[in-house]
Amino acid sequence: MPGLLDILKCRYPVIQGPIGAINSPELIAAISNAGGYGMLALGFIRDIDEVKRLITETKKLTDKPFGANIMIINPLNEQILPILAESGIRAVTTSVGFPGRIYPLLHELGMKGLHVLLSVKHAISAVEAGADGIVAAGSEAGGLRSTGSESSTMILVPLVCDSVKVPVVAAGGIADSRGYRAAFALGAQGVQIGTRFLAASECPVHDRWKELIVNCEDGGTSLLPVDNMMMRAILTPELRAKIESPDFDIKKEFQLKNASQAWNNGDFSLVPAGAGQVSALIHDVKSVAEIINQMVS
Ligand SMILES: Cc1cc2nc3c(=O)[nH]c(=O)nc-3n(C[C@H](O)[C@H](O)[C@H](O)COP(=O)(O)O)c2cc1C
Repeated sequence: MPGLLDILKCRYPVIQGPIGAINSPELIAAISNAGGYGMLALGFIRDIDEVKRLITETKKLTDKPFGANIMIINPLNEQILPILAESGIRAVTTSVGFPGRIYPLLHELGMKGLHVLLSVKHAISAVEAGADGIVAAGSEAGGLRSTGSESSTMILVPLVCDSVKVPVVAAGGIADSRGYRAAFALGAQGVQIGTRFLAASECPVHDRWKELIVNCEDGGTSLLPVDNMMMRAILTPELRAKIESPDFDIKKEFQLKNASQAWNNGDFSLVPAGAGQVSALIHDVKSVAEIINQMVS
């Protein structure tokens, strides 16, 4: 059974978590150049030329391995995967949906995949469907979640490790060397990082988003309804006031289709600033190299 680093072929088992449709060749390359595994976020992409452009631009900035996240629900996956394979990408992550159809194609193309999930039940079925590894994302993580009750990283990772024989990656709540080492103690072979890389100097998101992460305190995030799902986001004083107002219908207010506009412009009245609980442990914006070096030290 290949280990995680045999699959990723990078120096450190530190994977960049996809953040919506945010794609930055500079950030991906910085993560790969620092020894981690930079990732294109292709979950929402509907433009094949843009996929090719992102790969070309990233390759100009790094000769190290990088990968891509694809969402099972993207109708273009059957066109995207051969492009990734031709460009030399050997490992991807898959998320949002049952991976049964995608893994035979992925393997035919000579690629391996890790499926991202939030429960033991889905870990077992993903491995049965062919997943070469699992990214287990605990409830403290930033990003979209289900509306059901879910386990935190501390519980989910060992449960998944006990249930499957493939490499497991821990996601959710990891920002420094303590979290990194804890992930290994729980049985994971690596980590996937979302929020800490959002507050990296190379990350192209609006400065206001980074400031919210850096200033977030203990208990400063909450799961909020967005479309039919939940999303962990930073509770600003304005957001708290809105939520407490009897006239505010939170289920109607925040829609995923507005996320890019909100996040690119730092207009968090449209969609709140997504981030994990680990924001409370992040006190500065610093370079990817500093983050990764400190994490693995
Ligand atoms: C604002 C935000 C958006 C995210 N969007 C996605 C996404 O589109 N697809 C996905 O698979 N994961 C998404 N994630 C999850 C991350 O890739 C990663 O697994 C998670 O952030 C790890 O937890 P952490 O935030 O505690 O580091 C998102 C996370 C954040 C913070």
